[in-house]
Amino acid sequence: MSDRPEIDDHSGVETTGHEWDGIKELNTPLPRWWLIIWGACIVIAAIYMVLMPSWPLPWANTYLKGTRHYSERATFAKDMAKLAASRGPSEAKLAATALDQIEADPELLNFAMAAGRSAFGDNCATCHGSGGVGGLGYPALVDDDWLWGGTLDDIKFTITNGIRSTGDDTRFSQMPAFGKDGLLSASEIKDLVEYVTHLSNREADAAAVARGATLFADNCAACHGEDGKGMHELGAPNLTDAIWLYGGDRAAITNTITNAHQGVMPTWGGKLKPWTIDALTIYVHSLGGGE
Ligand code: HEC
Ligand code: HEC
Repeated sequence: MSDRPEIDDHSGVETTGHEWDGIKELNTPLPRWWLIIWGACIVIAAIYMVLMPSWPLPWANTYLKGTRHYSERATFAKDMAKLAASRGPSEAKLAATALDQIEADPELLNFAMAAGRSAFGDNCATCHGSGGVGGLGYPALVDDDWLWGGTLDDIKFTITNGIRSTGDDTRFSQMPAFGKDGLLSASEIKDLVEYVTHLSNREADAAAVARGATLFADNCAACHGEDGKGMHELGAPNLTDAIWLYGGDRAAITNTITNAHQGVMPTWGGKLKPWTIDALTIYVHSLGGGE
């Protein structure tokens, strides 16, 4: 072996002089730029470790806090405190302002709408759909058709006390299960289905509609009104429009009259802060052209 490095015939590159079964190792050092970056990373990591939180010290139930004592948790708590401080006056103002005065103050209205929208997404959208579009059994809040009334006070009362819920002042009413409980016969229910179909201006069997009108006056008008337009005090839906809570085809109406429904809306008073309920009221009222 000479001292001169051997040059590999095939590639023209120096070898390290190591050889295994005739296979020789080429001497290709790491590129300088790569070594510089690598070295820099090690130096930066060492500096970072001194400045910032780094190693856990599980035996002491702590960690190296670094000379800057940075903590995400503390930063978050500080940000939240700042937010609370900036919102505080608006919350207090909202709490102190009568519902019907809020809409007259554009800045307060803005705050109530934003707070209401966010509280709605957190608490209400699961049932009422995002933006309050509703679904089968869950009323849409974006229309101007109200079961229990759409004035600010009505909406606030509904949200605070719930419907067929646990609160002492919950809204309550109960449509009888006319078929299941044997109050009406199958053929009477069939006549009523035709009558209800006719009420919302759709094609229906005229003879059945005539018989249904009498049955309706006797059994249904007390809650749904003589004209079928519903009654807010009892949460009885308007049956003359195209909006249906439980479906408006004959099968759905038959099912409603036979079994009745008991839609339940939770009581929010006590669970949500009073000013949050005010914000929700403003938001819901704005959604659907409140009354
Ligand atoms: C567990 C499901 C559920 C949740 C959550 C819920 N609701 Fe309801 N809500 C209902 C049901 C069901 C009704 C209809 C009850 C009935 O049939 O009379 C209703 C009715 C209402 C009404 C009356 C609508 C009318 O036409 O009179 C308002 C207003 C309302 N909800 C607002 C809210 C708000 C605001 C929230 C959130 C704080 C909320 N709801 C959360 C199920 C829910
Ligand atoms: C004691 C009051 C009461 C009486 C009497 C009553 N209803 Fe109802 N009805 C209601 C209430 C309240 C609802 C809504 C139930 C809910 O929201 O869960 C309702 C819902 C309905 C619906 C569903 C409407 C929709 O939008 O899906 C139909 C249809 C209906 N009633 C028809 C009748 C007919 C027909 C009779 C007479 C045979 C009758 N009701 C008698 C209170 C009454």
